[in-house]
This record gives sequence, structure tokens and C-alpha cells, in this order.
Amino acid sequence: MLNLLKRSTLLRRLIPGLLSFALVVTMAACNNNQEAAEGGASSSGGDAAVLKVATEPAFAPFEAQASDGTLEGFDIDLMRAIGEAAGFTVEFSSLPFDGIIPALQGGTVDAAISSMTITPERAKTVDFSRPYFKAGLAIAVQANNNDVTSLESLEGKRIAVQIGTTGANTANQIPGSQVRTFDSAPLALQELANGNVDAVINDAPVTLYAIKSGNLNSLKVVGQLLTEEYYGIPMPKNSPNLERINQGLNTVLTNGKYAEIYKKWFGTEPPELPETAPALQG
Ligand code: ARG
Repeated sequence: MLNLLKRSTLLRRLIPGLLSFALVVTMAACNNNQEAAEGGASSSGGDAAVLKVATEPAFAPFEAQASDGTLEGFDIDLMRAIGEAAGFTVEFSSLPFDGIIPALQGGTVDAAISSMTITPERAKTVDFSRPYFKAGLAIAVQANNNDVTSLESLEGKRIAVQIGTTGANTANQIPGSQVRTFDSAPLALQELANGNVDAVINDAPVTLYAIKSGNLNSLKVVGQLLTEEYYGIPMPKNSPNLERINQGLNTVLTNGKYAEIYKKWFGTEPPELPETAPALQG
């Protein structure tokens, strides 16, 4: 009896010590893990080893999700090549298109590559890289539709668009238009294929690619490149990464890497690009 009492007192004395030892060991291990995850890089000085880059990946051939879930496309290859040239790796995250600018403003991502047109309106809230692709809007209609031929002929018509896009802005400016917004361009095109709207206004290369590669052969494009638009990489205002992303982009534009990626996705030589977006001049 006495013996047992003695032993339990001994245990009681030892337990606090053992517990605090275990706590110290666990804390040290956690600390190590955290340092490994951060890779010793600071994300504030424009020298981060990893950049968080957002994209809305239902916009082939620029950004798409392969069947195994991995991201692929012109923008994805280009962003990785820019990182290689400028000394960072890219960690992609998927966001709704209309959530990208708020995420940049809130600082939850460092940049985005999502076929985003450089517009004066957007340039008030984010900084853009130099232009990396020349595109423009197109109208898609049912292949047997002969009365839609131009933006003017869309007056009073039902138009499907992706929310937050330049296509949506253009559709909203057409007098009497009934604009239906969708989370992605493929959903807008499907609505047209189903006969629920008269037209889709969307980026020409994406609509053409969808008609060619998908099961949308009941559709055709009427007004190709209604507008001239240049894609840029948006970043938070005054981002420390603007300069090195532009440098990386200029490097891949001159060393042949850009042309290689362009040919992989579009099958032709790339056209010349202006150094600044015409929309931001004057
Ligand atoms: N270029 C158009 C815009 O900037 C559409 C971009 C949509 N991009 C996407 N990944 N869904 O508004």
C-alpha cells in the first residue's frame, strides 16, 4: 500500500516534466516544417521563389483542366516559362473569372493569367504586364441563323456571356439586349447550342476552338475580331513582381520560347505584339 502510494507520487512528479518535453519537441518540429514550406523566401520584395497565380480554367486553349485535373493551355505554359526566365516557380489556383481582380486587390494571389484583356477600367484597380496576346471578340450564332451579322443586328436579342468579361460589357451596351450571364464561356455556348439564346459574345480564339474541338458544330462565328483586345497579366497595384514578370515575358518573347508555346497551341508563328496596350494610351 505504501509502495503503491510512493510510486504514484513519483509518476505525478514526472508527468509534468515529460509533458513539457513532448511539447517542446512538437513545437520544434512544427517550426521546421513551416520554414521548409516558406522556402526562406519573402513575398514582399519581388524576390519570392513561388508566385501564387490565379486562373479561371474553362477557357481553352488558353487555360483548361485536363481530365486528371491538371491545368494546361497557352497561358499555363507561358506563365511557367516566364517564371523559369525570371527565377520563380508558379503555384496556380482556380478562381471564378469575376473573383480574380478582388483576389488580387485582397492580396490572396500575386498575379493572374486568365486571358484577361487590358482595359482602362481594370487598369484603375490592378497593374498589367505588357501585352502577351492579341485577341478580340466574336459573335457566335446557330449555324442556320442568317439575320445576325454584326453587333447592330443583335439589338433586342438574347445574348449569353461569361460574367465579368469584355464580352459581357459589349453585350450590355447593345440597345434592348437581354443579356444572360454564365460562370464560364462553355456554359454560355451550351445555352446557344440548346437554342435558348440568339448569340454569344466571347473571345474569338476561344469560341473558334470550342466549335472546332467540341460538340458544338451546330454553331458558327459571324463577326470575328469585332474588337482589338490585348491580354495582360494583372497584379495588385504597385506589385513588387511587375518588373520581373515583364522582364521574364520580354526574355521569352526574344529567346524563341514564346514562339514555341504559340506554335504548340495555335499551329502558326506568333504575330508581332505592341510593347504597351493601345487601350491604355492617350
Ligand atoms: N478576354 C476577356 C476579358 O478579359 C475574357 C476572359 C475570360 N477568361 C477566362 N479565363 N475565362 O474579359
